[in-house]
Amino acid sequence: MRIDIVTLFPEIALAPLSESIIQRARKAGLVEIAAHNLRDWTTDKHHKADDTLCGGGQGMLLKPEPIFAAIEQLRTPESKVVLMTPQGRVFKQAVARELSAESHLILLCGHYEGVDHRVIEQLVDLELSIGDYVLTNGAIAAAVVTDAIVRLLPGALGNEQSSVEESFSDPNLLEAPAYTRPIDFRGHVVPEILLSGHHGNIAKWRKERALERTRANRPDLLES
Ligand code: ADE
Repeated sequence: MRIDIVTLFPEIALAPLSESIIQRARKAGLVEIAAHNLRDWTTDKHHKADDTLCGGGQGMLLKPEPIFAAIEQLRTPESKVVLMTPQGRVFKQAVARELSAESHLILLCGHYEGVDHRVIEQLVDLELSIGDYVLTNGAIAAAVVTDAIVRLLPGALGNEQSSVEESFSDPNLLEAPAYTRPIDFRGHVVPEILLSGHHGNIAKWRKERALERTRANRPDLLES
């Protein structure tokens, strides 16, 4: 798989993708990740990538010319072009799973008030939001999406089970609370059942705690 990130801040996108599991996946050749500076496709002497809104209004918008030039250079017939924007479809584990099956993603990062709408109409296959809040910079969102996709690639996680059993594999249930040693930490002890060795009871306990936690933190998941 290949992921190209197009942004005004390539270092912001790459920093969290250059350590730990994702860096190991890159070194193992599971994924090739590159971040490109949109300014490299500007043609004026000030490398201007943004401009004011037609019709008036606050803020600046990314101009179409450098974005069209970037995408036209980077894309292949297999590419899927994704725009990071708070106006997009909400990114969930199921979307990460879908995207992890693609061979080439181009993640285009908005900045300021977003991008000229002709970019969306002509170039973008999918608008994606990582949640109902506004970041200063789509590069942060691109790093989040890339991380969630790459860890799903076969071989990216040491233990293949770990991406199967976690939250959102059953998309309607959070994970149960988990404990490690010491058994007694400052008088707070690990639930006895987890020390019982009785797998059936432990599984039942985990299911109940998962439900309880979901009810408390994410009741919306149980309604769906
Ligand atoms: N850019 C700014 N906020 C964003 C969000 N929530 N998701 C994706 N891209 C963004």
